[in-house]
Amino acid sequence: MKCKVLELLRSHREPVSGEEISAQLGVSRTAVWKHIKTLREEGYEIVSQPGKGYLLKGIPDLLLRGELAHFLAGSMFARSIQCHLTVGSTNDLAKAAADQGAPEGALVVAECQEQGKGRLGRQWFSPQGGGIYASVVLRPPLKPEQAPGFTLLAAVALAEAVQKVAGLTPGIKWPNDVLLAGKKFCGILTEMKAEMDRIYYLVIGTGINVNTDPQSFPESLRDTATSIKTEGGKAVSRIELLAVYLKNMETLYKVYLEQGLPPVIEKWKTWNVTLGQAVSLTSGGEVFQGRAVDIAGNGGLVVVGNDGEERIFQSGEVTLRTK
Ligand code: BTN
Repeated sequence: MKCKVLELLRSHREPVSGEEISAQLGVSRTAVWKHIKTLREEGYEIVSQPGKGYLLKGIPDLLLRGELAHFLAGSMFARSIQCHLTVGSTNDLAKAAADQGAPEGALVVAECQEQGKGRLGRQWFSPQGGGIYASVVLRPPLKPEQAPGFTLLAAVALAEAVQKVAGLTPGIKWPNDVLLAGKKFCGILTEMKAEMDRIYYLVIGTGINVNTDPQSFPESLRDTATSIKTEGGKAVSRIELLAVYLKNMETLYKVYLEQGLPPVIEKWKTWNVTLGQAVSLTSGGEVFQGRAVDIAGNGGLVVVGNDGEERIFQSGEVTLRTK
């Protein structure tokens, strides 16, 4: 009933009287008042205008299940939504849910992670207040070797969302670091359960420094990490950004399943800050120096070494060099 009261307030631009709400929803005026009180306690800004009624003026900046369901209505990511205040890692929770049969599109979100995981065994700094930590379950009917394409796909979806919601133009460093002003504000960790010929599920975990204050970053990150708010000069709605990102992801996912990876790679290239650059690529303990020249059909990075040898890397860590 609380959600119905909220939906009714959302659908009105003018104040609605308690009497009208109680008549429309078939509950007592006292019950309406109690639900309004609870919504206010959750952070909804509901003003009561004497003689006119209640008006919804603002929603809380919390990743609440009801809010996400509203913003994601009709999307595959609205099927199963878990929202938490504090977790170890949303990727771990999403994997546990997937193991127990969670549907494709299942979404796990947290305000804060105590054991946020980055790529290559690193940690992901995940403080409360300003970040997005979200993981989704996908069950593509594909082979494990096609999984790296999802990392590129997610980075494109995120770059497009940041441009739309924050009006900023990010760059993507292969495979999936998303940068503003050359500093990283988003990382994507894709994990997989598969057999040789078939993916059971993928978990795509995304960490975004949205309104995070860089002063709160550990010393070791301050030179290389940033947030959307820092670069754009103003706070951004986390819920809107997350919803636009996931809707973009769903669109690109359909493109990948119907047309293969090439159209996704073409989009990726429009955001790329890696191709044409001198790079050091660390992969499997080896460091390879050269120039990044292209993205292979399966999403790998094509690098021409300083000795002229061409190699394709499926994974690794790229450092952009100045020459
Ligand atoms: C990277 O190293 O760049 C990847 C960082 C991925 C972080 C996200 S935050 C949500 C999800 N849960 C995790 O534990 N990690 C990912």
